[in-house]
Amino acid sequence: MGLRHQAVVFALMVVAFAVGPFVVYPVFLMKALCFALFACAFNLLIGYAGLLSFGHAAYLGPYLISHARFRPSFKILAHEDEAQIPWGVVRLEFRQEEKVFRAIVPGGSAANDADVQAGLRIAQQNCFRCHNAGAEGGTKAGIPWPVLAGWAAAAPERFAAYVRNPQAGNAKTQMAASPQYDDATMKVLIDYFKSFVNRRWP
Ligand code: HEC
Repeated sequence: MGLRHQAVVFALMVVAFAVGPFVVYPVFLMKALCFALFACAFNLLIGYAGLLSFGHAAYLGPYLISHARFRPSFKILAHEDEAQIPWGVVRLEFRQEEKVFRAIVPGGSAANDADVQAGLRIAQQNCFRCHNAGAEGGTKAGIPWPVLAGWAAAAPERFAAYVRNPQAGNAKTQMAASPQYDDATMKVLIDYFKSFVNRRWP
């Protein structure tokens, strides 16, 4: 393709991107673009390098890409439903929500405790993005559920302080702070994590 043709195609692409969100359902457009990006990656890898590899896959955590007109849909104590901003996305995987979240459902007598259930909803949206439970959940933290459970049980005050302000305990922290969590919110979160202390992990 000549330079002029390229310029024309480029101009068309710019126009399509500028107008797209107004004429096509934006979430569909985002998905389509994600697949286009995926196709580009494989074109580079197989087409140019001759390598068939799925090795550039990594697992960062379950995210919900939010709409521009996002409205919080629930509030539990001081935790309000929040829009999830994807970070470092390298792979898209369509999973069953129920299967992913099953990994952090409390068992035994804790399952019926209202506080533990409230803690679950908070941990599911907040902590699970970066902390994993077995093969599920985010891997950014590299600190899995049983370790958090240990912290919650052995040093609840330190646990609460870290959640509210991780920077105070670790200047180079990568963890999202939750300074809005009051004592009642922290209690349900700690009750929830404590319920995992004696849990057997596969
Ligand atoms: C944005 C990602 C992210 C989220 C969300 C997150 N964490 Fe973390 N967390 C980390 C990372 C990364 C570390 C490792 C140390 C650091 O960077 O602060 C960490 C460390 C910790 C530690 C310290 C463990 C230790 O051994 O020192 C605790 C406790 C903890 N997280 C609890 C939580 C809880 C509870 C939640 C949910 C309310 C949560 N985290 C949400 C990323 C996250």
